[in-house]
Amino acid sequence: MARPILVTSALPYANGPPHFGHLTGAYLPADIFVRYQRLIGSEVVFICGTDEHGVGVTLAAEQEGVPYQEVVDRWHKVWLDACTRLGIEFDNFSQTSRRDPHFGLSQEFFRRLFHNGHLEKKETQQYYSAATDRFLADRYVRGTCYICGHENARGDECPKCGSWLESSKLLDPRSALDPDEKLELRDAWQFEIDLAPFKDDPAIKPWLDEFRKGLKPNVVTFVFDKTIEGEGLESRPISRDLPWGVPIPEQDLDGESIGDVAGKVLYVWFEAPIGYISSTIEWARREDRDWRRYWIRKPGEEGARLIHFIGKDNITFHCILWPAMLAWQTLERDFEGRQGPGPGEEYVRPENVPANEFLNLEGRKFSKSEGWYIDVQDFLERYDADMARYYLCAAMPETADSDFLWREFKVRTDELANTFGNFASRVLKFAAKYFENRVPPLVGLEDEAQAIAAAIETRTQALVDHIENYRFRRALAEFRGLAEDGDKFMDRTKPWQLRKTDLDAAGSSIHLALQLLPPLSVLAAPFVPVLSARLRAMLNLSERTPGPLLPAERLEAGHALGEAAVLVEKVPDEQIEAEVAALRARAGDAPS
Ligand code: 2FM
Ligand code: ZN
Repeated sequence: MARPILVTSALPYANGPPHFGHLTGAYLPADIFVRYQRLIGSEVVFICGTDEHGVGVTLAAEQEGVPYQEVVDRWHKVWLDACTRLGIEFDNFSQTSRRDPHFGLSQEFFRRLFHNGHLEKKETQQYYSAATDRFLADRYVRGTCYICGHENARGDECPKCGSWLESSKLLDPRSALDPDEKLELRDAWQFEIDLAPFKDDPAIKPWLDEFRKGLKPNVVTFVFDKTIEGEGLESRPISRDLPWGVPIPEQDLDGESIGDVAGKVLYVWFEAPIGYISSTIEWARREDRDWRRYWIRKPGEEGARLIHFIGKDNITFHCILWPAMLAWQTLERDFEGRQGPGPGEEYVRPENVPANEFLNLEGRKFSKSEGWYIDVQDFLERYDADMARYYLCAAMPETADSDFLWREFKVRTDELANTFGNFASRVLKFAAKYFENRVPPLVGLEDEAQAIAAAIETRTQALVDHIENYRFRRALAEFRGLAEDGDKFMDRTKPWQLRKTDLDAAGSSIHLALQLLPPLSVLAAPFVPVLSARLRAMLNLSERTPGPLLPAERLEAGHALGEAAVLVEKVPDEQIEAEVAALRARAGDAPS
């Protein structure tokens, strides 16, 4: 029996709006992958939610002067709305501030690690702000990255090189609350997890070797060359002194006190990935399903396929910290209130982490504060979601950073109209005009029939191979390529000329051209689902039953077609120029 698949998109921080860089990095590719899996009949669940703790949230709320919960609830809605409008359909979109089941499960992770000897109390040094009388954790401290020299690194993460940083080691440190305040380093104890054993631990090594084989080259380079074999793995604090987060549990698995943990919470990067499980539990409760089927592996079973879609700045956490946390949960004993794996069972580990690089805007990083952004909700008022999906997939930063370019948006959406849109309209209009809107019979044209069947088969197989290996740009090119094959076929057989001398021969050509449209509607579905459904309506085809993509659906001679209409509208040139001008005006640049 095929293994169930659990797909996740990185839980976005609930402290600001999404931009196309986020959406193209971790959300659109996951949705394309999930839609494809549903098409072929896989058992797949798509999980996400907002990451609502951590300093980004406390900082935003404090700067605004509103309660933390108010900030995260607001941004949770904005993210869900933007994703929904873009056609990204999660099975569940939770919040890590929802206590049940997230807090208890996160504390269970801590308690199991503590029991297994992976956590230790350590004296650390942290920056302290005398003016505000508190330790400054993570993003409360800014400074120069000690790995790559980037001048605006955050306390725990460098946005440029993606390294996981220690705020106490930042060069030229300053407070994010008041850059002029002189910070002092003070002692503070925290719980640390020692990651040094990660690469050789017999409970991890076989998984790690297998995991490496499936990763995209950019992820292998980051995880193995840069991190494990480069900087090396060390002990990392996984607790913080903050007023907002999941409290460190007071008792160990036997009910013994862990110590005075008042005021200490779990580090957001420890607790956020557990949100993938909490969100699955929430989904399973609502749908009356079993969440353990997706997360827990019994001895001798392969378990579910776990696939995390993320942006490149999240690689270390998903490929090292998180798998270590999952592996080190295993226990040979039971305990009261257990939610996770029982004795002999274990959590599944990620099969793949298809991380994308960053998408920039017209050569610069998206930045709301600098006016260099596209308001996603506003964009989706003016353009169809499928236009955005098509372009963002074509520009996806799969192997290197890429750019959203307004003029390229025009070029690519014109391309969709000129290939897919034009081919479908051309064939359907011909059938409507000369063959009473029915599929005409096929007589002869054996070689052409074979060529059409071969094109469908080759394009479909290539698309499947690309999607299954997370190469979405190339998969998109195969979908478009099938429409181009159709156009070439029309140009070769010229039904518009044939009809003047031999209507039956013209009908045969249209019969074959029509055979390309059901598979085109299917190959379109992961990328442009609304256009796919529109084409199926024009073909008078109902929703396809999930299953293998080949052999492709056929239209029998005599099949009554639906109403032919324009499938894809083009964006006027002037509108694009207005968008570019508005962006530059907002950012205060001179018009180009
Ligand atoms: O980078 C981010 O936006 C993080 N909030 C991603 C967290 S992913 C997961 F682990 F929750
Ligand atoms: Zn850096």
